Amino acid sequence: MSRFLRYLSAVLVLLPVFLSITPLSAATAESAASEKEIDAKALYRHWCSQCHGLEGRGDGVNSTPDMSINPRDHTDASFMSTRSDEQFEDVIRGGGTRVAKSPLMPPWGATLTDEEIKALVGYLRELCNCEYEGIVSHKRLRRVDPGFK
Ligand code: HEC
Repeated sequence: MSRFLRYLSAVLVLLPVFLSITPLSAATAESAASEKEIDAKALYRHWCSQCHGLEGRGDGVNSTPDMSINPRDHTDASFMSTRSDEQFEDVIRGGGTRVAKSPLMPPWGATLTDEEIKALVGYLRELCNCEYEGIVSHKRLRRVDPGFK
């Protein structure tokens, strides 16, 4: 085999290796970058504030006293601490009806990525300045959640 042919076959053997490594590492770098770049506050202001308010107090421009149920006040730690992060992800992804609540809370699963939804849950925790405190009694839920039955 001539030198050239040996060289060529080495290139041909190694080519798929390069082709598979390059896009993979590029994709990992890209997703790491996009995770860092998610601005949950901006997302909240864009998608949620018209109902929940710019500061999350449930007083957005679309929230009127005649609504059958008002958008949740996300700064209300007494309620927000009764819900786990998973429950918030569920209601954001699937809307109010997903958790037997009002359809006035729309589903966002087709609009936001899982990473964006997780970032929003993190932002909700900033707004209420609270953590999930574990399972609470029905008595307490009735007190903090007017819609609870
Ligand atoms: C069209 C108005 C509207 C928009 C827009 C909206 N929500 Fe809501 N949201 C509601 C209403 C109304 C409720 C109260 C539902 C209930 O208690 O039955 C609610 C409740 C919630 C709750 C509390 C759920 C619970 O367990 O009680 C969370 C969390 C929430 N919204 C997050 C969001 C996020 C995050 C966004 C933006 C991605 C958003 N909402 C956008 C109307 C809205």
